[in-house]
Amino acid sequence: MIDTDLKLEIVLPKVPDIELVAIQGLEKMGSYFGISEDKIGEARVLVTEAIINGLEHSGGDNPYVKVEVTMTKDKLIILVTDNGKGFDPESVPIPEIEKKLSSANKRGWGLKLMKSMSDDLLIESKPTGTKISIIKNLS
Ligand SMILES: Nc1ncnc2c1ncn2[C@@H]1O[C@H](COP(=O)(O)OP(=O)(O)OP(=O)(O)O)[C@@H](O)[C@H]1O
Ligand SMILES: [Mg+2]
Repeated sequence: MIDTDLKLEIVLPKVPDIELVAIQGLEKMGSYFGISEDKIGEARVLVTEAIINGLEHSGGDNPYVKVEVTMTKDKLIILVTDNGKGFDPESVPIPEIEKKLSSANKRGWGLKLMKSMSDDLLIESKPTGTKISIIKNLS
């Protein structure tokens, strides 16, 4: 096994299930490093939610996301960049299950889920796009 890090870099268009392309790469890298099923399962959720947000909320006619996954046996870094309209992460309400049960909009869990499954998460957003950086310890 190599001692350095492995990097996957891919640009994805908005077509149904396209996130599976990145997930497959993530899984191959995870098996190479012998990462546990638990950790890879969480990493799969992180990559999926970040890609779907970038493609779904970006607002353009033909959105793309750039996905960069860097892995060592101890650490995973996921960067997802879109060229959408951006948003203010501070103004996103924190979802609460009690309120969601009686609300018509059941969605809005992605960011909370990503925060809970990662060790560090940073969102940089401006009117020309958003970059989400996620760090997850694998050991
Ligand atoms: N990349 C992005 N570009 C623009 N807005 C975003 C982006 N990511 C998130 N948002 C905004 O933040 C909100 C919350 O995102 P979050 O992933 O938590 O929920 P959701 O995508 O609406 O629903 P869910 O993830 O539960 O299907 C989104 O509704 C959207 O308004
Ligand atoms: Mg989402």
